[in-house]
Amino acid sequence: MILVTGGAGYIGSHMAKWLHQAGYPVVVFDNLSTGKRSLARYGEWMEGDLNNPDDLTHCFERFPIRAVIHFAARSLVGESVRMPLLYYQNNVAGTLNLLHAMADAGVKHIIFSSTAAVYGNPQQLPIPETHPKQPINPYGRSKWMMEQLIEDAVSAMGLHAVSLRYFNAAGADPAGELGECHDPETHLIPLVLKAALGKRSAITIFGQDYPTPDGTPVRDYIHVWDLVAAHELALQALLAGELQGYQVFNLGTGKGYSVKEVIHTAQRLLESEGVSIPVQTGARRVGDPPVLVAKADQVQQVLGWMPRLSDLETMIQHAWCWEKAQR
Ligand code: UFG
Repeated sequence: MILVTGGAGYIGSHMAKWLHQAGYPVVVFDNLSTGKRSLARYGEWMEGDLNNPDDLTHCFERFPIRAVIHFAARSLVGESVRMPLLYYQNNVAGTLNLLHAMADAGVKHIIFSSTAAVYGNPQQLPIPETHPKQPINPYGRSKWMMEQLIEDAVSAMGLHAVSLRYFNAAGADPAGELGECHDPETHLIPLVLKAALGKRSAITIFGQDYPTPDGTPVRDYIHVWDLVAAHELALQALLAGELQGYQVFNLGTGKGYSVKEVIHTAQRLLESEGVSIPVQTGARRVGDPPVLVAKADQVQQVLGWMPRLSDLETMIQHAWCWEKAQR
């Protein structure tokens, strides 16, 4: 069985569905602090907390787990600045407990949900995996610490592990069953679509004076369905013994879109439905680098992964179907 921690969250819920459809037995473990029970639609369900070692012991005793895909974490940059201890407790201490439980149960394979936030402000573009790790907020630092915990456990405990550093996850389940529902929502695409539906008064562009072609920040958006596909490839390679020790891959497409491009593409796509998107401009958001784009060749070469749905139109269309259904 494959244990998906945080499987009631945005990416974890898509992962559980993907694995279920690919024929893997799955157990979803989530404390529902930010996840939604309604998103955990596939596999066995266990409500539990990484900060409660007994929950983990119970989970590993109850299910014959072969590998772990570890998503469970707090993931809001602003919140992490206000509540750093929550981030270190939940993300770092939780991962420590998970690694203990894996050691006790003899489970040797883990895939970790990391982030481009471990790099901090880019010193080179596109950003390769070897870029210095200088996270600029507690969220990014907690993810970097989690990577280091896992890497040390690999050498000492004979684990095999893959960390996947996501750039900007976007879009929704192509079948429309799952999607993004953060509370509060901070991500650009869902906020643009909420403004389109009148759930918010407007989308605010945070800064138009960046050193980019149109003055707004550029990000490397990757469809959540492409993202989870890469995890399955990593899982196959780990279980087959083709990936050994500790490996790290960026998960992005290598192509960036600006905030204005995202908004204009959404406007164009929704015009046919008679929907318009109110836009306003605001100040820069603290801590936003001008450009974050992945050097994405490693995951393609080593795992044979290719993005299939990560063009902007498809990501927005799928997110739009989900957002409309949430009315
Ligand atoms: N943006 C706006 N208006 C909004 C929301 C966002 O203009 O209302 C802009 C941001 O300034 C940024 C871009 O849209 O330039 C994308 O912002 P998101 O919040 O969607 O995503 P981020 O690039 O800030 O965050 C992503 C991941 C985080 C990770 C971070 C690393 O979602 O988990 O990259 O820097 F920490």
